[in-house]
Amino acid sequence: MGYPHPPHAKESVVLSKHFGDAGARTYAGWVERGGYEGLKKALGMTPDALIEEVKASGLRGRGGAGFPTGLKWSFMPKNDGKPHYLCCNADESEPGTFKDREIMRWTPHALIEGCAVACHAIGAETCYIYIRGEFTEPYKIMEAAVADAYKNGAVGANAMGSGKRIDIVLHRGAGAYICGEETALMNSIEGKRGNPRIKPPFPAAAGLFGMPTTINNVETLAAVPHILMRGAAWYKGLCLSNPKSTGTKLWSVCGHVMKPGNFEVTMGFPMKDLIYELAGGMRPGRTLKAVIPGGSSVPLMNREEAESALCDYEGVVEKGSMLGSAGFIVMDDSADIVYEVYRLAKFYAHESCAQCTQCREGTAWTTKILERMLHGQGKPEDLDLLLDLSDNMTGKTICVLSDSCAAPIVSGIKKFRGEFDAYLARAKGPAVAV
Ligand SMILES: Cc1cc2nc3c(=O)[nH]c(=O)nc-3n(C[C@H](O)[C@H](O)[C@H](O)COP(=O)(O)O)c2cc1C
Repeated sequence: MGYPHPPHAKESVVLSKHFGDAGARTYAGWVERGGYEGLKKALGMTPDALIEEVKASGLRGRGGAGFPTGLKWSFMPKNDGKPHYLCCNADESEPGTFKDREIMRWTPHALIEGCAVACHAIGAETCYIYIRGEFTEPYKIMEAAVADAYKNGAVGANAMGSGKRIDIVLHRGAGAYICGEETALMNSIEGKRGNPRIKPPFPAAAGLFGMPTTINNVETLAAVPHILMRGAAWYKGLCLSNPKSTGTKLWSVCGHVMKPGNFEVTMGFPMKDLIYELAGGMRPGRTLKAVIPGGSSVPLMNREEAESALCDYEGVVEKGSMLGSAGFIVMDDSADIVYEVYRLAKFYAHESCAQCTQCREGTAWTTKILERMLHGQGKPEDLDLLLDLSDNMTGKTICVLSDSCAAPIVSGIKKFRGEFDAYLARAKGPAVAV
């Protein structure tokens, strides 16, 4: 399968430079393209110096929360005599997000290299890469690349001849969205039901198998070898707006655009250009109505907000949403916001692990209320009820799955209230009491 689009002139191609280039998939091919130089350099550095370099680059987590990567690594205890673990989060189940699978499909060695560097930084000998169960092709490519990396001594008992042991273990999930949450992922690797754990203890204190653990997203780790090869200052310089957002970011653009796909841009890139130039704009005769910029778990942005936002952590927050995973869902004026919000609520209700009452009941009830509204059976008090339920689903549970369900509902009502009111005005009243 090929890669759908050649890079646009306005893209800053770093992570995606070799997307579509099958030659980059082998160890030899990766080395020819400058690969494994970053790891070689990292293994010659002390873990502290390595952490400082990543801190200086300004790299922040690409999995959703945007936590500074070097700082996260620095939380791992030192000289505690315990085994340390790295978990690479390759679950990528967030609706609208499809970048990590492409990194694994085209540049598997970039990820292996990033994992090995991170292992050295945090004092781990083992990295588990937790791959979403449905990712058959990325898994097979990763499996071949890991074997190739072992065969060539890049990882294993004596990684790159450094005398350090670094093992990479691939672990396939079974297709549960909740297993992308970091502590649920650890439970899943341990063979338990993938339920999120109460924090504290945080993973750096007691994570996988009760041992100090760091968890990072695929895109985060794949950026690390580039930082080592070209320097923290170079990476930090990739910034068009806020100095707290550095580097490049892959945006998975889908929905009502002419050219959906992954686009890699420098932090601070204008969102308008992402929509209208890179992704080809709306379909003929259509206008932009809304976007959900960070995967489905973040607030909706209306047209005005989206067209004036900058693509970085702060720029999206400034316009009332969050960067999340940068799964960018575009809706034109044919979209029915009530229906779209209902579809998302139904997804979260299906994926709730059901440990927390607010999530189990909240996601199910919001889905039912939105469904009856769509069927002309809404009640005048339903909007207040949805907002009240959403309030109870925010900040009150073990993980943020229920917050994620509430975000598009609350923002949908706030920004597109007229569409909800129209359904209620047309309502004939409930056929049965629900
Ligand atoms: C319900 C839920 C699902 C998540 N799914 C993913 C996922 O598929 N991939 C991912 O990298 N992070 C996911 N996260 C975020 C992770 O918990 C974690 O913050 C992330 O892997 C940390 O990596 P980073 O610091 O490199 O971003 C999810 C979080 C929640 C609450």
